[in-house]
Amino acid sequence: MLRSLLLYLSEREALKNLLSRYALGRRLAGRFIAGEELDDAVRVVRRLTGEGFAVTLDYLGESVHETRHAEQARDVYLGILERLQAEGIQSHISVKLTQLGLDIDEALACRNLQAICERAARYRTFVRIDMESSAHTDATLRVLRAAGFPPEVLGIVIQAYLYRSEKDITELLRSGTRVRLCKGAYMEPPEIAFPYKADVDANFVKLMEKLLASGHDHAIATHDPKMVAATLEFARARGMEVERFEFQMLYGIARRMQRDLLQKGHRVRIYVPYGKQWYSYFMRRLAERPANLLFLLKNLVRG
Ligand code: FDA
Repeated sequence: MLRSLLLYLSEREALKNLLSRYALGRRLAGRFIAGEELDDAVRVVRRLTGEGFAVTLDYLGESVHETRHAEQARDVYLGILERLQAEGIQSHISVKLTQLGLDIDEALACRNLQAICERAARYRTFVRIDMESSAHTDATLRVLRAAGFPPEVLGIVIQAYLYRSEKDITELLRSGTRVRLCKGAYMEPPEIAFPYKADVDANFVKLMEKLLASGHDHAIATHDPKMVAATLEFARARGMEVERFEFQMLYGIARRMQRDLLQKGHRVRIYVPYGKQWYSYFMRRLAERPANLLFLLKNLVRG
């Protein structure tokens, strides 16, 4: 119930405008975002890479409805890539296709993505397309294919809560596409997604095994100790070297587990979001864990 309410609110403009206007909103979101400016993000990325983590940088924003906003987002990403290159910082980037214009025109989103990928390829870095709600899954997969970049440059996310994901992974593996596997963060109906956590978890383990067995360089994105343990157990049983895959976690979540895995020699990449459009991202993080709401309410009471 609470999860559904928070996910519903994550798409409400009025609350977005209210929360985004006040410093308090920014302070609350600060637990999950690196800051509103690229300078803030660069500071966080430097600290994390200094500690031994790998990073993927996300310029927050989604559901863009004007071409000029989609092109602005593309230009921000080009600027990020220039900045990372100029400062010698190793970081992947993560993009959302609705931020690049997917809801306006698939071809526009594809052109914007291609411009970003060309620059990323020049600087030998990697672009990951985040996966959004199921309304965009087919279009996202089409744009991935149409963009025409090799697996070293462009990869995608697959969500374990969707029934279709096993079939999607089978197809993606044929082209060697690098997949980030996550559980899925949007509100989806039971006709297309597993409604119960136990089933999502079971599918996550099944898909993780399929990805790891394929031998490509995939990412297992979760903060769930059970999913992490299942991944480690599968890799150990197969005698896989730890360099063959990476764990990914979100900035500000499960920090102890992030450090523990790193100390044990695993590759751990932190997803670092920054920017002023933090509202929807923030609300999805609240929806994932009811205790976060308590944390928010405590801060509200304290002022
Ligand atoms: P689960 O939700 O079962 O949580 C397990 C435990 O992790 C919790 O008990 C809690 O301790 C901790 N935890 C999880 N979420 C927390 C939170 N918000 N705050 C505090 N603690 C929390 N989704 C999507 O639909 N498309 C995408 O492209 C991506 N991309 C992505 C990248 C990366 C690097 C990660 C880690 C995740 C995503 N996600 C995503 C989000 C993903 O789908 C999922 O919603 C969250 O990761 C939460 O699921 P867990 O696997 O952590 O398990």
